[in-house]
Amino acid sequence: MGVKRIGVVGSGIMGAGVAEVAARSGFEVVLRSRTQAGVDAMLGGLDASLARQVKKGRLEEAVATEVRDRVSGVSELAMLAACDLVLESVVEDLAVKQDLFGELDRVCAPGAILATNTSTLPVVELAMVTQRPDRVCGIHFFNPAPAMSLVEVIPAITTSDATLDEARAFVVTCGKTAVTVKDQAGFVVNALLFPYLNNAVKLFDAGVASRDDIDTAMKGGCNFPMGPLELLDLVGLDTSLSILDALFAEFRDPNFAPAPLLKRMVAAERLGRKSGAGFYDYEG
Ligand SMILES: NC(=O)c1ccc[n+]([C@@H]2O[C@H](COP(=O)([O-])OP(=O)(O)OC[C@H]3O[C@@H](n4cnc5c(N)ncnc54)[C@H](O)[C@@H]3O)[C@@H](O)[C@H]2O)c1
Repeated sequence: MGVKRIGVVGSGIMGAGVAEVAARSGFEVVLRSRTQAGVDAMLGGLDASLARQVKKGRLEEAVATEVRDRVSGVSELAMLAACDLVLESVVEDLAVKQDLFGELDRVCAPGAILATNTSTLPVVELAMVTQRPDRVCGIHFFNPAPAMSLVEVIPAITTSDATLDEARAFVVTCGKTAVTVKDQAGFVVNALLFPYLNNAVKLFDAGVASRDDIDTAMKGGCNFPMGPLELLDLVGLDTSLSILDALFAEFRDPNFAPAPLLKRMVAAERLGRKSGAGFYDYEG
């Protein structure tokens, strides 16, 4: 009984962050990326992040070594067979996630929890491609996962109470605050946040204010730590577009219809921090 070993699938922004959180909370973590280069990049990123914490005096070197020793990287999905809970954080695309859940269902032990970090997609549609729809749920961390205190836990209508309890217990052990949210696009945070972010892009595109003035206005006027355009760059403009598409598909509310400029920026591969340029430019 109990979740001890965590599988993390997907080597992007969220996969790396969640892996670090779980390892620092005492879980054994198996990271899976599709390629060895992806595995190496993830482990290198973890090493760098832990080294930064040690340098800032926030983590003892011996503890950092223990954390690192709890994490292994694999490229084969079958290596997740011994995990008690697998959390996928791959691209926000329903078809990709459904294929992955089908494969995870085949390789993981029948009692293992299969969880998704999706921002908006219907958890039930992932549950139903498995033979264990009662053991599937959403566990939605925020970005950057090591710093953000909230996690939304999303039971699909097929999820058992035991699965929900175990998922919430995992989140609490990770030192996070868990809220339980119905399986509805955007859950709580993104359903409220994304119309705001989307409207910021529309204001910018209409020339109502400059990029810097829009961000300065929301930081100074609402005491937000980041402006909306900075936040979109942090989230990733491709992920943001997928989130808005899913919200619009679910509710048909014009506030969720992606701003044309957002679509054009994604087409131009200006994805934000992860591609080196978005509303802002980033070094390196
Ligand atoms: N970025 C955020 O702020 C944020 C916050 C919370 C949740 N999420 C969710 O986390 C998930 C991942 O987002 P991210 O920001 O880490 O994205 P990302 O673009 O940084 O990483 C996506 C990962 O998916 C992998 N991938 C792409 N196509 C794939 C495929 N066909 N099969 C398997 N893997 C594939 C990529 O190699 C990459 O490792 C999404 O579901 C997103 O909605 C994102």
